[in-house]
Amino acid sequence: MDKSKPVIISLGGSLVVPNGGIDSTFLSAFSEFIRIKITLGWRFFIVVGGGATARMYIEGARAIVGSITDWDLDWLGIHTTRLNAHLIRTIFQDVAHPRIIENYEKKIEDLKEPLVVASGWKPGRSTDYDAIILARDYGAGAIINMSNIVSVCDKDPNRYPDAKPVHQLTWEKFQELIGTEWHPGSNVPFDPIATKLAHELGLSVFIVGSDLENLELIFSGKSDFVGTIITPE
Ligand code: UTP
Repeated sequence: MDKSKPVIISLGGSLVVPNGGIDSTFLSAFSEFIRIKITLGWRFFIVVGGGATARMYIEGARAIVGSITDWDLDWLGIHTTRLNAHLIRTIFQDVAHPRIIENYEKKIEDLKEPLVVASGWKPGRSTDYDAIILARDYGAGAIINMSNIVSVCDKDPNRYPDAKPVHQLTWEKFQELIGTEWHPGSNVPFDPIATKLAHELGLSVFIVGSDLENLELIFSGKSDFVGTIITPE
């Protein structure tokens, strides 16, 4: 990986608030990992998902209101990403840029800090999509999607117990696996709209879980990490 370009980490809310409670053990270890990398000269954008909090608010609103638009559900989801992003900004407040990216059209000029935190942006997408926008706008060297999904499998592991992890595949193949439909609060390895954009822009994305020793393998350029790399070709 190239240290001269920023690394985009899409930090799934599933790792921040796995069951609606904050995973302080993981976040402390993650903070230490990123801080060591910063002292070695790496720069980061961390876009934070909503996780169980998003799903709890989306399901709660659905149960109370009954008929509700995806637009309204997405706004609930976006606010949970803002809350989680604020937590991450607080953890990194001594090294992070003071403003959380919420409106991706306002590009940060003259960035001095080694780390920027971002939240969800607009309805109809997810923080996976936002990570691709950051990669495009800030010339990222790598995009790493960390969540409770450790690898892409050759079929849906929730439906097929014999599903097997795939180490490398193309966006075209990945889109065949996950389809093209998007729903508020959905939990897929990478969302279908972000998939389309990453493919168009010719970007690659690492899909990994929360294991930081495994993440280190990616930073060291080793190919034997546990997870999946999705590539244009
Ligand atoms: P995410 O789906 O990005 O959070 O946002 P997550 O589930 O933590 O992410 P992963 O899959 O583990 O990486 C939560 C919800 O917020 C809304 C969507 O409804 C989304 O499902 N959202 C988020 C938006 O509408 N727009 C955004 O830009 C981001």
